[in-house]
Amino acid sequence: CGIVGYVGSRPVSDLLLEGLHRLEYRGYDSAGIAVMTDTEIVVRKKSGRVGELAQLIKQQPVVGSIGIGHTRWATHGETTDENSHPHLGGNGEVVIVHNGVIENYDSLRTQLQTLGYVFRSQTDTEVVAHLIAHHLGEQLKLSDSEPGVDVCLKAVHTTLDRLKGTYGLCAMFRDCPDTLIAARSGSPLVIGVGKDEYFLASDASPLVGYTQDVVYLADNEVAVLQPSKMTVAHRTSGSVQPSIQTLDQVSSDIDLGDYPHYMLKEIFEQPQTIENALRGRLDSEEATAVIGGLNLTAQQLRTIDRVVLTACGTSWHAGLVGEYLLEEFARLPTEVEYASELRYRNPPMSDRTLVFAITQSGETADTLAAMRECKRKGHPTLAICNVVGSTIGREADGGMYLRAGPEIGVASTKAFTSQVTVLTLLALYLGRMRHLSYPAGKRIIKQLRDMPSKIEEALKCNDRVAEIAAKYAKYDNYLYLGRLYNFPVALEGALKLKEISYIHAEGYPAAEMKHGPIALVDEQTPSVFIVPKCGIQPKVISNMEEVKARKGPVIAIACEGDAEVARIADDVIYVPDVEEYLQPLVCAIPLQLLSYHVALLRGCNVDRPRNLAKSVTVE
Ligand code: G6P
Repeated sequence: CGIVGYVGSRPVSDLLLEGLHRLEYRGYDSAGIAVMTDTEIVVRKKSGRVGELAQLIKQQPVVGSIGIGHTRWATHGETTDENSHPHLGGNGEVVIVHNGVIENYDSLRTQLQTLGYVFRSQTDTEVVAHLIAHHLGEQLKLSDSEPGVDVCLKAVHTTLDRLKGTYGLCAMFRDCPDTLIAARSGSPLVIGVGKDEYFLASDASPLVGYTQDVVYLADNEVAVLQPSKMTVAHRTSGSVQPSIQTLDQVSSDIDLGDYPHYMLKEIFEQPQTIENALRGRLDSEEATAVIGGLNLTAQQLRTIDRVVLTACGTSWHAGLVGEYLLEEFARLPTEVEYASELRYRNPPMSDRTLVFAITQSGETADTLAAMRECKRKGHPTLAICNVVGSTIGREADGGMYLRAGPEIGVASTKAFTSQVTVLTLLALYLGRMRHLSYPAGKRIIKQLRDMPSKIEEALKCNDRVAEIAAKYAKYDNYLYLGRLYNFPVALEGALKLKEISYIHAEGYPAAEMKHGPIALVDEQTPSVFIVPKCGIQPKVISNMEEVKARKGPVIAIACEGDAEVARIADDVIYVPDVEEYLQPLVCAIPLQLLSYHVALLRGCNVDRPRNLAKSVTVE
């Protein structure tokens, strides 16, 4: 979900709507705003996209300069107008927006109902709204005073003490009309500092163009925002001096430019984003990578005897490529764990195990929890992360940023290739401390330097991919098959198609196919083979023959000019010939484009696929 808030003197409705548009990639089931007018709190909310909310506000405008807004990715309760945020509490004395999950909402709801509170939605959030209203009432009875900031703050604190679960929330009070109170535990919030104004958001994108000064709220911190004043306090240890950081995003980073969709823009940015990931990180003299941010000495790194990579979704697929790279270059036993599993498992890990969390957003709840769990047990816990200032970026002991710029399309593309690039650098670096020879290091560096232009070349397949998509968009089941370095690529290709075209697609190691998925092969089930030149290419070609023998249509991703593959496959997409360990980078490109074009042809929303969210900050 995405949260925005503002206190100052600008017309707030438009500002909140713009912020919600920029945050829409975090969730887009429904949206709403609450504005403090001269007399009362006015809520406008609606199931559906932010665009639909904008229409509603056009018909029923609301004027004010303080307000909060929300774009939802449903957890509790269907996507109806009533379940949309903001939620009013009590008799409208407070209104809140919330991101996260309140685990004990059921028992709190029952208690509040007994006290006479009437619920209008099925959400866990409404419980928090009523609870704040309830404690506000209690405070007022006790102190017999007017509802000022202190009383509102007290009510929020008492409410937070009763919540189990995660939240990033913001509350606004009818009788304290120039104030927002924001609190965080597990779900991110960032404050934008302006002149006589403050902004609040789930991530920095709504602040771009308004202010460069930001404060990231930490867990258990509560902020009070008034037009000319901000205070931050920790829930138990009291007042905190906020550290103001500089945001280096510019508006063009989040503009579409001439592209019809963010996904296409981001696919075409990859020559540049890979270049950014490599910049300053290659040392030809020493034939190694330059990695400054791990915060471990070379001696400490040499004692590491195992690596655990943990992630979700596309980042997990990048981790699988990382496993192959680290084992091949550095001979380091590596495991890739789903973060949602690792956080609850208790695998034996010695004190020589190095843990990396891989994440584009740096906010994925499961990845964060897995990282914290490993930290708790004393392992050096590093991050490979894109978003600077994100929770994982800040909490990790060290790591490497991707430098890919904001990724807005919900289906991850450029972050994947940047993650693979950074993992290659890491494997080179750790490899050169161990078994990798000088000439081998030199060779890897040379190949890496060529990657941006190889990706440029790979992108030339776009028109051909569009033609192939037109031929195959009608099918409802696909297999994606590859081996070794291209097995994770097959998984990622299948995920891309699933995510944005809603087509069932299964990624599999090509040879393993004959132990089950081959039963699915028929004339209506295309197989996408990732079959560039490699040591075991003849074996993959045999797997292709097996599919053809059963009348399965075959699309192949192959090296430029590979006549043998062309003879067997129905359609071929060519990519430049690169070393095996770099094939995931070039082969990912046509697969991203294939899913893009198929989704377009099927009339799907490429950038905002149904049911998904870019940043999953709930468990
Ligand atoms: C969501 C996104 C995926 C992404 C995954 C992990 O499911 O839709 O595209 O791969 O989260 O996100 P992260 O930000 O941790 O890489």
